Amino acid sequence: MSRFQLIHGPTGYQLQDQTSLQKPLLIDFNAGALQYRRNHGGKKELLLKAISAKPGQQVIDCTAGLGVDAFLMAASGCTVTLLERSPVLALLLADGLSRGLEEPETQSIVTRMALVQTDAIEWLGRLKQPADTIYIDQMFPHRQKSAAVKGGMQLLQKFLGDDGHVADLLAAALATNSRRVVVKRPLVGGDSQGMVPDYQLKAKASRFDIYLQIPAAH
Ligand SMILES: C[S@@+](CC[C@H](N)C(=O)[O-])C[C@H]1O[C@@H](n2cnc3c(N)ncnc32)[C@H](O)[C@@H]1O
Repeated sequence: MSRFQLIHGPTGYQLQDQTSLQKPLLIDFNAGALQYRRNHGGKKELLLKAISAKPGQQVIDCTAGLGVDAFLMAASGCTVTLLERSPVLALLLADGLSRGLEEPETQSIVTRMALVQTDAIEWLGRLKQPADTIYIDQMFPHRQKSAAVKGGMQLLQKFLGDDGHVADLLAAALATNSRRVVVKRPLVGGDSQGMVPDYQLKAKASRFDIYLQIPAAH
């Protein structure tokens, strides 16, 4: 039997690690912790400062994962395209989004979230118009060892492993000539690999590197 199992239960699709007692992973935008963060984080949420969130702003989230960051950005009024490479994660996300559309608390937010199952590097290569903002939050190898990583993200790390080189994704994002590219990196050991950001915002364990560009006229 394989270590990870996709289960379809009464609440929706869940990913279970058979070798752990950890709760199966379910994407639930109506979950208490996420709603609390949405209602109490507000403008203090560093992510929203990093993307300079404004209603109507178009964001491409290249690394949708559990959809937490995408949800917070959409809750602040942004229109978010979620790109996710893993078919299993994309299925969990699609399931979470469809439940989110049925809940009055999350409905209006989830209508601003569109999911595409794709590799972001390929997808960005086909992008015709620059976006307002491109957001990248890849899994870094050393983040896997961090004791601070908990819950769904921990299971995600075990399931997916290392995400590859952030530099390749960042280069693809910058090549679209989009106005703002934001990369979330670990505070310690998250080298900018020679791609020096215009500025940084720092939190306790992570930071946001912000790259600004002037889009070419079309
Ligand atoms: C650290 S998680 C992102 C967490 C997310 N920000 C959240 O709030 O839940 C990274 C995710 O990005 C996805 N990913 C990594 N590289 C990608 C790529 N090139 N294209 C699309 N998805 C990618 C991985 O499959 C994984 O689900």
